[in-house]
Amino acid sequence: MPDMAHVGSGKVRELYALDDERLLLVATDRISTFDVVLPTEIPDKGRVLTGLSAFWFTRTRGLCPNHLLAVRPDGRSTECRRLQMLPIECVVRGYLSGSAWKDYRATREICGHRLPEGLRESERLPEPIFTPATKATSGHDENITRAQAGALVGAARLAEVERLALALYRFAASYALVRGIIVADTKFEFGLDGDGRLVLADEALTPDSSRFWPADAYTPGGPQPSFDKQFVRDFCEQTSWNKTYPGPELSPTVVAGTRARYVEAFERLTGIAFEAYLADPRVVVA
Ligand SMILES: Nc1ncnc2c1ncn2[C@@H]1O[C@H](COP(=O)(O)OP(=O)(O)OP(=O)(O)O)[C@@H](O)[C@H]1O
Ligand SMILES: [Mg+2]
Repeated sequence: MPDMAHVGSGKVRELYALDDERLLLVATDRISTFDVVLPTEIPDKGRVLTGLSAFWFTRTRGLCPNHLLAVRPDGRSTECRRLQMLPIECVVRGYLSGSAWKDYRATREICGHRLPEGLRESERLPEPIFTPATKATSGHDENITRAQAGALVGAARLAEVERLALALYRFAASYALVRGIIVADTKFEFGLDGDGRLVLADEALTPDSSRFWPADAYTPGGPQPSFDKQFVRDFCEQTSWNKTYPGPELSPTVVAGTRARYVEAFERLTGIAFEAYLADPRVVVA
């Protein structure tokens, strides 16, 4: 894209400025695990992420405005409103997993929420909770209390973000559960538009930003198989890789299995054939 200013690269996305007000977000097929981008790509993964985000943006517009303007015919590029991003990750958790499980075991608390005694790993929480984190520019994000998050974005703004994030999670979690997928937790990013209004941005409710578990295999009391990256994680565990850069090449079997799982997540959640999305990405915003 020679005539467009490249304004940034994330682990998964490339960002280009279309003009002062609009960005082009291009989701690549890169995959990261344990926060390391692997040398092997998963074909169409970027399209799955783009299509799912656009699907959810379209269905949650009534709950919260979002940055989506258009999905391009390539299925991996999103034209969106350019925002001033808030410096926090807005995580909502309905189940006890990952860093929340670690914090709970140590202190019975997560981000200042005191939880009941006796919860097991992966157990459903009494209520979904908002557990913000810092946006680490390098390394892992760190959980912070709501007071700490309030110091970063303002208390009133944080209260609004928490309310919206919880509403979005509740909507998506019940939508997905009917389709056989547990949304154990998810991360949202919000930004401010030119008038200071809060807008949902980035990707939303994708396998990369969420923990999706197959509902029919759900067994609290231990870690759950992840819907999408389990092949990759299992493969990496079998190698002698120490989980720092550079990661291992994936085998063709792992690539094919992972691609199939991403596509399955897309199809189960949207009810749309992935082939139909490839033929015309507008099917997800209809
Ligand atoms: N509407 C928007 N305006 C401005 N910046 C945005 C907008 N939507 C998303 N972004 C930013 O674009 C980047 C998306 O790239 P990507 O997801 O690859 O990055 P990353 O967050 O570093 O990776 P990871 O998601 O694995 O942590 C993020 O920094 C995100 O905050
Ligand atoms: Mg990201």
